[in-house]
Amino acid sequence: MTRVAFPVDTSVVFEAERAGRAAVALQAVLAERRSIRRLRSGVFTPEMRQRLLEAVRLTPAAYNLPPWRVVLVHERREALWAEVEEGFREALHGEQLERYLDRLRGFAPGVAVALVFADNGVERELREGKGASAEVAASFVQQALGMVQFALWLAVTAEGLATSLQHWDHLVGPRLARFVGLPETEFRLAATMPIGYADEEPRGIDRAVAEQVCAVDPGE
Ligand SMILES: Cc1cc2nc3c(=O)[nH]c(=O)nc-3n(C[C@H](O)[C@H](O)[C@H](O)COP(=O)(O)O)c2cc1C
Repeated sequence: MTRVAFPVDTSVVFEAERAGRAAVALQAVLAERRSIRRLRSGVFTPEMRQRLLEAVRLTPAAYNLPPWRVVLVHERREALWAEVEEGFREALHGEQLERYLDRLRGFAPGVAVALVFADNGVERELREGKGASAEVAASFVQQALGMVQFALWLAVTAEGLATSLQHWDHLVGPRLARFVGLPETEFRLAATMPIGYADEEPRGIDRAVAEQVCAVDPGE
């Protein structure tokens, strides 16, 4: 029997394998990302910091106008936590204050804190420069803020680190803007992401079933 040899373009095979590996790796990061609220310290190199900032820089935004300013606090994190505590003590009392302080004790041993501020100037530019209605401009800003938080969360997870989303604008927003040298009238604290190594198991969670949240070719 004669054997027919088919030429194989190995570069195509390698490319498909590479793409497959990247897809599997991304799935793993997506599955690993969880909210972790008890942190411990550990390695946090300049290269790791740079990759986190790169995730922020590569995040898309409407009209390519990023409405965020992400400030990573590493060296000054102890002073930052003291500032947050002072703000909590000023605004909260009793049992609620104790719960918030307990949260802080879980975050403080971590390696860094990412403060995600919304840049009011960009929302203005969307309205005045791009002609977006107030409602659309506000929506675009919110959607882009969600994107950057998720990009950063995945990048943190890919480094073997953990984080969570905390919403403290009403308690310490202006105070933290001043702490990092941003004008508090122009920058609103959208989220605080304490970063560190996980010092707790993630909570048990039931994810939505696929049919509830996504579909392929429905209505046929
Ligand atoms: C928009 C948004 C707001 C959230 N706000 C908070 C928050 O203020 N504090 C907190 O501890 N977790 C917060 N979370 C975390 C969610 O509770 C959590 O992501 C969800 O329960 C799924 O759990 P997982 O992150 O471990 O997968 C928030 C998440 C999102 C997406």
